[in-house]
Amino acid sequence: MSAYADQRVLVVGGTSGVGLATAGEFDHVVVSAGETPMGRVDALPLADAYAAMDSKFWGAYRIARSVRVRPSGSLTLLAGYLSQRPGRASALQSAINADLEALVRGLALEYAPLRVNAVSPGLLRTPLWEGMDVTARERMCEAATQRLPVGRVGEAADVAQAVLFVTGNAYATGTTVYVDGGGTIA
Ligand SMILES: NC(=O)c1ccc[n+]([C@@H]2O[C@H](COP(=O)([O-])OP(=O)(O)OC[C@H]3O[C@@H](n4cnc5c(N)ncnc54)[C@H](OP(=O)(O)O)[C@@H]3O)[C@@H](O)[C@H]2O)c1
Repeated sequence: MSAYADQRVLVVGGTSGVGLATAGEFDHVVVSAGETPMGRVDALPLADAYAAMDSKFWGAYRIARSVRVRPSGSLTLLAGYLSQRPGRASALQSAINADLEALVRGLALEYAPLRVNAVSPGLLRTPLWEGMDVTARERMCEAATQRLPVGRVGEAADVAQAVLFVTGNAYATGTTVYVDGGGTIA
């Protein structure tokens, strides 16, 4: 793939056979996918709770067990600060994120010398909240702005910076970086 060094190439089905031979191993893999509907444990349908765990935790787990990453590279999973600071309707998200943070600690040992880390964002203004009622969303952001020491809601770029930090720092492994505007302590 050296002819494509300055280009971005996506190979779907790259874990074995022709796909793997075409793409080769990755240097760095970041898993930022996941859909986790919010809701109290006694209100969220069990099927939705399973689907959330399947999407965010098992999705990352499946990628971690099959993706080919060079040993000098890294694997980074996106979790979330709710792992440390549950809200009033987020026990499931707290559990999923805590599981992901625990997973990276174990994987950092199992997969060494590959480095494995988590980045745990606080509230971000991203399309993740687009399905929410606009008024409720703005109320949520305003409340966070008042509560957070940084006085604002996060942006995707705030977290991307942390992802690039853990992928690039050769001494960072088995750790979680919280980029939450102080949400964990506020
Ligand atoms: N935004 C926040 O306030 C916040 C706070 C804490 C933690 N986080 C975590 O940070 C990560 C990134 O969040 P974000 O705000 O960037 O979310 P986002 O804007 O909703 O983006 C999520 C991305 O993941 C993809 N995706 C979702 N489910 C997938 C699946 N099963 N397979 C493949 N791709 C899938 C989506 O693609 P499609 O659109 O095509 O489905 C989309 O590209 C997530 O793990 C999220 O839980 C976010």
